[in-house]
Amino acid sequence: MSALLEVRTLTVGYGHVGVLEDVSLDIAPGTIVALVGSNGAGKSTLLRAISGLLKPTRGSIAFDGRPIDGATPNLVVDAGILHVAEGRRLFRSQSVRHNLDLGLYGVDVDRDEEKARLDYVFELFPILVDKLDHQASTLSGGQQQMLAIGQALMRRPKLLMLDEPSLGLAPIVVDQVMDVIVKLKMAGTTILLVEQMVERALEIADHGYVLQSGRLIGQGKPAELQQSDAIRRAYVGG
Ligand SMILES: Nc1ncnc2c1ncn2[C@@H]1O[C@H](COP(=O)(O)OP(=O)(O)O)[C@@H](O)[C@H]1O
Ligand SMILES: [Mg+2]
Repeated sequence: MSALLEVRTLTVGYGHVGVLEDVSLDIAPGTIVALVGSNGAGKSTLLRAISGLLKPTRGSIAFDGRPIDGATPNLVVDAGILHVAEGRRLFRSQSVRHNLDLGLYGVDVDRDEEKARLDYVFELFPILVDKLDHQASTLSGGQQQMLAIGQALMRRPKLLMLDEPSLGLAPIVVDQVMDVIVKLKMAGTTILLVEQMVERALEIADHGYVLQSGRLIGQGKPAELQQSDAIRRAYVGG
């Protein structure tokens, strides 16, 4: 089956500072792909490049068979790729309800469709129903993460990219977030999951990639990766 997302020999940096070098990665439709690696490896940089926030200096990115490298962030979103950035960027002084509405910004949907999408988010994250009128800033870290994911889901993404969704969350909340990611996959959403919680990510992933210092040093089935040298090297820097 051809890949939904195809990244080829991608080289990306900030100004003259190179970060990613020659990165190639495939995401098959309907799968969870985990991208793991230590702090500073370049994981968020790769998501930013896919999102159109950073222009690659070399290489290509194709989505659904069409090139998207060089596309603006808006066009990438319109193509169906949603990026839930590190640190849950919400409109913190706005209500939960308004944050979900903002997920539909610029999208033309009728009331029934809007309601269906809200209901889907509430089904996944029932806690948000009780919090609709609360300011986003008053939510717990886990609830904010759920809201950030919910906001992205309002656009019905084909590919959802999650950057360290578990960061700073209590273990039981991490479980909830991981469960939701699996449910999203069951419902047909393709997921690119960036995590420092390697074990947790590989547990639910169909395929994994290991990034170290801007280069891919391993990939494969999660069970094999867990045993691999690549994982050990990525985390002990050996
Ligand atoms: N805005 C930026 N400007 C310059 N360098 C950056 C910027 N953001 C990240 N970097 C550098 O790029 C490298 C990769 O960072 P990042 O992609 O955030 O790693 P990760 O998400 O894997 O922790 C790091 O060396 C980091 O210092
Ligand atoms: Mg990061």
